[in-house]
Amino acid sequence: MLVSHVKQNSQKSKKNFPLIQQESSFFIKNRLNKRGVEMTVTIHQVTYDSADYHRLFWIRNDVLRRPLGLVLQRADFPEEAQTCHLGALHDGVYIGAGCCLLKNGVMRASQIAVLPEYQGKAVGRLLMNEIISLARGKGAESVVLDARQTAFAFYEKLGFTYAGRPFTKLGVSHRTMILPLKKAPSARGRG
Ligand SMILES: CC(C)(COP(=O)(O)OP(=O)(O)OC[C@H]1O[C@@H](n2cnc3c(N)ncnc32)[C@H](O)[C@@H]1OP(=O)(O)O)[C@@H](O)C(=O)NCCC(=O)NCCS
Repeated sequence: MLVSHVKQNSQKSKKNFPLIQQESSFFIKNRLNKRGVEMTVTIHQVTYDSADYHRLFWIRNDVLRRPLGLVLQRADFPEEAQTCHLGALHDGVYIGAGCCLLKNGVMRASQIAVLPEYQGKAVGRLLMNEIISLARGKGAESVVLDARQTAFAFYEKLGFTYAGRPFTKLGVSHRTMILPLKKAPSARGRG
């Protein structure tokens, strides 16, 4: 069974993780204890076009495009500069990436990628939980993403359900999946 502990932290651990940028606005620490393997993973928000952004870009390319015989192009992402870029850091090295963008009250997640040797260690869950938490913090009504067929079960475990029919993108079968976010009852609504 996975035992994870997530807590908000401040900038004080910066010296332990030299890749953290001054601009990083939050820091989350997760101790993973699965099948006797313990590792510390932190999720960082990375500034667009910074050195860390480019590190994450190549993880996205290696995990999501290269296996399809494609190369990730910045031109494929016209809203890249407005997007929130998240990186999962372990031992000073990025091992996972994810993106999200809030639009019209909906948080759209994309480019969730964990390096193959770190898959199955709850890094993807940690990235998605951060996106969900960001969405809640911004008052989004839902988190929406286009999931590859191979990742349907991963998103189902996080509570996502299917919205719409299957479609093909980059030669791969996808479905749009959605996680509605419950709003806290307003003071007016209570009693
Ligand atoms: C899909 C991906 C992001 C998941 O990240 P991960 O770190 O490997 O997943 P986690 O370890 O956090 O898994 C969380 C849960 O989902 C399950 N899960 C993860 N990937 C799964 C998959 N492909 N099929 C079925 N279940 C899966 C895990 O078993 C785990 O379940 P548990 O909590 O009951 O043990 C990662 O495997 C990856 O980068 N895959 C290649 C790229 C990709 O497909 N990205 C998604 C594009 S839409």
